Parts: sequence; C-alpha cells; structure tokens
Amino acid sequence: MTTVAPRTVDPEVDAIRHHYEVSNDFYRLLLGPTMMYSGGYWNEGEDLVAALDEAQERKLDTFADLANVRAGGVKRVLDIGCGWGTMLNRLTTVHGAEEAVGLTLSRTQEAFIDGLGNPRITTLVKSWADYAVADESEKYGAAFCINALEHFVSSNLPPKERTKRYRFFFQQVANALNPGAKFVLHTMTAEALPMNRALLDDLKFLQRSEFAGCHIPHLHELTAGAEGLFEVDEIVNERESFAMACRAWLVLLAERRDEAVAMEGEEVVARFERYLDIFAYTLEDKFFNNFRVTLTRR
Ligand SMILES: C[S@@+](CC[C@H](N)C(=O)[O-])C[C@H]1O[C@@H](n2cnc3c(N)ncnc32)[C@H](O)[C@@H]1O
Repeated sequence: MTTVAPRTVDPEVDAIRHHYEVSNDFYRLLLGPTMMYSGGYWNEGEDLVAALDEAQERKLDTFADLANVRAGGVKRVLDIGCGWGTMLNRLTTVHGAEEAVGLTLSRTQEAFIDGLGNPRITTLVKSWADYAVADESEKYGAAFCINALEHFVSSNLPPKERTKRYRFFFQQVANALNPGAKFVLHTMTAEALPMNRALLDDLKFLQRSEFAGCHIPHLHELTAGAEGLFEVDEIVNERESFAMACRAWLVLLAERRDEAVAMEGEEVVARFERYLDIFAYTLEDKFFNNFRVTLTRR
C-alpha cells in the first residue's frame, strides 16, 4: 500500500515527508540493513552491492575519527538530518558516545529509531532551524550532517536570501557546539556548468516533483556561511561515494522490484528509479560533487 503523508501547513515539511515517509520496509529493501541514505566508502575492487554495508560503516567510522569521537573524549553528539539513526547508533554502541541526539522531519524515521531500543539516542522531529540547546551543559562535543543539507535551503529563495539561510544554518550548528568541537558535513554541491535540455528536464523533475524546492548548494555558499564561526580543516570531493551508493541502491531495487511495487506501487518505485539514476549520472558526469567538509568550532 502506498504511504501518503498527511499535509501540514508547511510546504517544506510536506516536501520532505513526500519522500521520507514512504514505508520503512521499502527503505530497508532499497538501502539494505545499514539503512544509510548517503555515500559510502568502497575499497578498490569491492563489489558494489555485496560491500554496501561495509562501505557505509567504513564511512561512519571515518567520520567518527574526524570528529574525535573514536578517541573517546566526546560524550554528546548531534546528527542533523539523522535518517534512520544508523550514525547515532554507531556512535553510541561502537565509539563510546554517551548521548546522541538526532534531528529529522520524518515521523516514520523517528518510529524506526525508537524501535532500535537504544536508550542513549534521542530523536527529535524538528527542523535544524527550530532547534537550540537549552543551556551550556547541553552543548555538543561533535556534530554531523550527512547528505541532508541538500534539503535545508529552498531553491525558491533568491540567491542573496539563500546565502543568509546557509549562514543561519552554520550559526545554528555553531550555537549547539562547544568551542573546539568538530563538525563533519557531507553534502552534494553543484558546479555552474552548461546544461543540455535532457539534464534540465531531469533537474526540473528533482526540484519540482521529487524534492520540491531542494537546492544543491555551491561550495562558496558553504564557505561564506561558515566563515568566522568555524575553521575549515579539510574539504575533500567524494563524488564517487554517492554515485556508487545510488548505483548499488538501483541494483537492490531492480532485484526485488516486484516486492517494492507490492509495497508502494508502481508510481513510487518508478519515481525512485528515475531520481537515483539522475543523481548517479550527474555525479559521474561531474555536474554535482559530494564534498566532505571537516570544520572546527572556533
Ligand atoms: C538523505 S537523508 C540522510 C539521512 C542520514 N544522514 C543518512 O546519511 O543516512 C536526509 C535527512 O534529512 C532530514 N531532513 C530534511 N530536512 C530537514 C530539516 N529541515 N531539519 C532536520 N532534518 C531534515 C530528513 O528527514 C532525512 O532524515
């Protein structure tokens, strides 16, 4: 049965729920057991599908290292756009974090994380824009935002307003962190390249249908947003990490297409196939990047 998220008063919330409140069973079929919906780190020669889970865990462990969580000194961690809670779970069960808070707009993701039964995790169905720590004692020792920023700033805003909104995002993260804390951000970014008609049609589908109003940021929007609040430690372009994940999910979906259609219907499955292929080829053709940005709160 197709999952239909009831409408709220906020079109940005509705846009997220349109995509992220498709059933958890469908997402499990698509993403595999790790339920990560972002790029992975494959080793040379590894099979795309067979090594999907290892690739995702390798990515999470690398991020934990970059944020000094593995070193054991970090007690409280924040994941902004936390999906199905895999990073929160790994930080608390493998890397010694004592408390992990995740923000998402999806109620089905919240229910899934509750089902993990991990008492160290708190999930809030709340936008990053509305979240604030209550006092100094709630501030975090590390934060992550993994392929979620692409949803956070509306393409309907004029460029100047978008810049302000990215600035506000970095201010929100900075306000939640202790000085010296790390923030690891993984996000697609767009290159200003000439586009042909087919690509324009595909981008229109992404921005108007599947992820209404989504804006893939430009690198300069991010660096301007972070300036003065964070020191940029490192920026790495990991374009293949996301393209490979999209290709792996497409294989998993093709292998169990009939089951997926029985769960969510042909229209939903066809939508996912189209959007995953668009992301895969635009990353492969270098229209989009997938930057890993490591920052330190000043
Ligand atoms: C592509 S998923 C990535 C999930 C997870 N980080 C991962 O790597 O698997 C994007 C996530 O961003 C969340 N999200 C979108 N807009 C949000 C907002 N305004 N505030 C908080 N979370 C948001 C979605 O609910 C979803 O959990």
